[in-house]
Amino acid sequence: MFEKRKVRAHTNIALIKYWGKADEEYIIPLNSSLSLTLNDLYAETSVLFDPALDQDTFYLDGEKQNGSSLKKVQHVLDLVRQQADIEVKARVDSQNFVPTAAGLASSASGMAALAASASLAAGLDLDKKDLSRLARRGSGSASRSIYGGLVQWQKGSNDADSYAIPIDPADWGLGMYFILINKEQKKVSSRSGMKQTVETSPYIEEWARTTDEDVEKMKEAIAQRDFTQMGLLMERSASKMHATTLGAIEPFTYLLPESLHAIQFVQALRQKGFDCYFTMDAGPNVKVLIKEEQKAAIGQLLQEEFGPDKILYSDVGPDIQDITNE
Ligand code: DP6
Repeated sequence: MFEKRKVRAHTNIALIKYWGKADEEYIIPLNSSLSLTLNDLYAETSVLFDPALDQDTFYLDGEKQNGSSLKKVQHVLDLVRQQADIEVKARVDSQNFVPTAAGLASSASGMAALAASASLAAGLDLDKKDLSRLARRGSGSASRSIYGGLVQWQKGSNDADSYAIPIDPADWGLGMYFILINKEQKKVSSRSGMKQTVETSPYIEEWARTTDEDVEKMKEAIAQRDFTQMGLLMERSASKMHATTLGAIEPFTYLLPESLHAIQFVQALRQKGFDCYFTMDAGPNVKVLIKEEQKAAIGQLLQEEFGPDKILYSDVGPDIQDITNE
């Protein structure tokens, strides 16, 4: 018989970005990437394989899902069924925990929680490496949400050697602010945005080449706890990633005018002696890496500029957790 299993996975924000696939089916990236797992943004997912079901069902925040979001979940369930050699259908319940309805629900935490809960529910006992490989098949960035702290996704070259490894627990006072620019659903998903960029942007090759170098530089900066160097490398990675989309056909950008304003505000804070650095993903929100000792002062300035309801904060998050018995 099958047991219902439940897992919590925390989202991660890449300091050195993943952008572009070498293999779309297996989600092998063009470049390695490196992220920080966050405590306050996470997903909890339970899975029960139930012989009484005649189809898979997926509830997200209590609402039954159809179409593409059900398909993405079924893709991971199918991989788990294949490994466990079963054919039973499943009921999946997932909840996103984001402090406000901020449009920050992330495929990284959702897919990592799904990979872990589904594999446990099917009776598979995967180690973290194999969990990371499975989560990767759901969404590339999810491969990194298996671990807390600072995490590297080694690009590898095939299904067996493309997975994440923990780099540093980051228990030395890092934090991240979110400046919420726009709550609306993003217009170009990361999946289609990176595909369009890989297929049409002349900048993609240099992006991939220099990003593997950036990952190595970031690891050195982390080893030395050189926060300034980490921040500068993070800003360059985000800027380079967003530059590739402007070279695509048709050109597109995730930056809104308010994003640019937020970036310039963060950079201006540095002139005033604050140690803070921006990054952005496949949407208009701006994220700011800080040291906890400056949390209060920077938080106050961000709230004054953008409004208290537009600012979120999280410190560093832990590994994925089995919470079946919580
Ligand atoms: C900009 O992991 O969402 O956030 O693998 O197609 O599911 P798929 O894409 P996804 O892409 C994340 C892109 C990014 C950068 C990053 O997280 O590294």
